[in-house]
Amino acid sequence: MSANFHPAILRLETVDSTNLEAARQAKSGAKEGLCIVAREQTSGRGRLDRMWHSPLDTGLYCSIVLRPAMEMNRWPLLSLIAALAVSDALARACALKADVKWPNDIYANDRKLCGILSETIETSQGAAIIVGIGINLKAASLPESMRHTATSVEEVIGTAPDRESLLAELMKAFGEHYDLLQSADRDEHAIRDWCARSSYAYGRQVRVSLEGESFSGITRGLESDGALRVETLEGAIRIVRAGDVTALRPIT
Ligand code: BTN
Repeated sequence: MSANFHPAILRLETVDSTNLEAARQAKSGAKEGLCIVAREQTSGRGRLDRMWHSPLDTGLYCSIVLRPAMEMNRWPLLSLIAALAVSDALARACALKADVKWPNDIYANDRKLCGILSETIETSQGAAIIVGIGINLKAASLPESMRHTATSVEEVIGTAPDRESLLAELMKAFGEHYDLLQSADRDEHAIRDWCARSSYAYGRQVRVSLEGESFSGITRGLESDGALRVETLEGAIRIVRAGDVTALRPIT
């Protein structure tokens, strides 16, 4: 059992977005560990103002309220450990080996299986962070137009997992990583673990799209706050903290 993380699950049939609901609850005083889970979202949200398709009973849609006793400059690491927890949960509940991609996507067979949206909010008890996790469980969770870039657990292992078992593993794994992040060599451990599980961490040719600019380069690991290091074609190291990173095929 985790020393620092005590989940309390609130299950909803339908909601606009579990992140929005978790933020509302946090502003009304919800404690750390509240996890909103919904069978469907009518306005599921992704990074960079994108939408997250969330049809009824086709995915795991959940958002955790955290009130971390950590300096805020370390909070970006919470998204990294959420990705590690998803990767652990998929391994334990579905025997699925996933790849983690910066900033906090989970991939299988080079297609996106899960996205994580972390949002910091102000509440009367101080700042909180909502960590929202969406895992595509069934092929039906994906619109036709996304089938070449996204995938589902059902497509990868041939069967859709039980949502409750996966959620239980996810909460357990998140608690383990959250405990580690509060322990001695905390940040280095999270970064090392993330890099060990990511085929994107080192030596991967990528295109980085920022607001109003894009450039290509090769990944060179993570900074201590989780930012991605990319070596440009001119040999400079650029530190990427926002935007989109797309893998390019190696030049042969
Ligand atoms: C992304 O990859 O763009 C992040 C997607 C995050 C989707 C999840 S689904 C549960 C939670 N509620 C939301 O509205 N978004 C997150």
